[in-house]
Amino acid sequence: MIIRFAKENELERVNELRKQVNDLHVAGKPDVFKPGFGPELRDFINVIWNDPTENIVVADDEGFICGFAVINHITKPESPFMKERDFLDIDEFCVDEEHRRKGVATAMIEFIKDFAKENGFRRIELNMWEFNQGALAFYEAAGFETFRRYMEMFL
Ligand SMILES: CC(C)(COP(=O)(O)OP(=O)(O)OC[C@H]1O[C@@H](n2cnc3c(N)ncnc32)[C@H](O)[C@@H]1OP(=O)(O)O)[C@@H](O)C(=O)NCCC(=O)NCCS
Repeated sequence: MIIRFAKENELERVNELRKQVNDLHVAGKPDVFKPGFGPELRDFINVIWNDPTENIVVADDEGFICGFAVINHITKPESPFMKERDFLDIDEFCVDEEHRRKGVATAMIEFIKDFAKENGFRRIELNMWEFNQGALAFYEAAGFETFRRYMEMFL
């Protein structure tokens, strides 16, 4: 398996994986996520592809794209409360449901870490939804630590 950046002709396959994530989010947080995977969400991959601050990483298992990640270079200016921040954000991340628990996600994180170091980033950030305990277990196994929480109350 090779981890590398995506080619344009692979974006349709990346969208199949993006649909898996969206379905998971719809099932876990239906009050937030829109069901289905309509043209708007499908076409959004082109916005990502054309954004110079974003990169799409894929896991290529002998020609079969079995995982992907979107990484995004974020810069936040200084505010009255916070210092200026510059970090690499993992925006989307998925391994095909048929290819999980084989180390694919771990290999993608290693690739992203190498890319981050080579490009002078000192910090990688991501956010995830609390219902997604499988993802939490993976991210913790990969070495991420929770540094901030969102809380809610339904009335
Ligand atoms: C989370 C996800 C990316 C993990 O991918 P993966 O390729 O299966 O992960 P790995 O095989 O590299 O797992 C490495 C370790 O992480 C932990 N881990 C991974 N998935 C886990 C799960 N579902 N439950 C508990 N631990 C898990 C385990 O310690 C695992 O080691 P092991 O298999 O030797 O026990 C994958 O399940 C996925 O794509 N889920 C759906 C999409 C999603 O939730 N994306 C992230 C949020 S947007």
